[in-house]
Amino acid sequence: MSERARREVAASSSGAWKASARAGLAVWLLVAGLPSACTDGSGTQDAAAIPPELRVGEAKFKANCARCHGERGAGTDHGPPLVHRIYEPDHHPDITFQRAAANGVRAHHWNFGNMPKIDGVTPEDVDQITRYIRWLQRQAGIN
Ligand code: HEC
Repeated sequence: MSERARREVAASSSGAWKASARAGLAVWLLVAGLPSACTDGSGTQDAAAIPPELRVGEAKFKANCARCHGERGAGTDHGPPLVHRIYEPDHHPDITFQRAAANGVRAHHWNFGNMPKIDGVTPEDVDQITRYIRWLQRQAGIN
């Protein structure tokens, strides 16, 4: 076989390999796509998946804020939901979270009464809590 013929054989067999690799990938994508296709629409998968870097903020929120603002910021009988359009970043920027924790809040949007200042949380804690709440807001389409 001439050198050139050998190269052509090598080229065409590698082309065939690529084509079958592509077909294999397509099958793999199809199979890999099935489980998520089955859970689409339930929403439960997303609801559970809190990013690891927000877990500390979540714990601090639960310890200091959730008794009024509720699990996942959904609100209770003692305080409003923070996952709510009026608390989107444009209306209530992050500094309002710092002020709320440090000074308390005079009731003005709701009828739950005043929010007391929260002892025992540092500005760093509130920053982590705020990032957790912002993430929950984005999950709910509030930006
Ligand atoms: C004892 C109940 C209670 C606790 C605990 C509490 N809050 Fe509140 N918070 C409220 C109430 C009630 C309001 C709504 C006041 C109003 O009518 O606007 C509020 C309002 C807010 C607001 C809106 C402030 C504004 O400028 O309008 C933020 C932000 C907030 N809380 C953050 C927090 C954070 C962060 C924590 C935990 C560190 C926390 N709250 C703990 C009761 C509470």
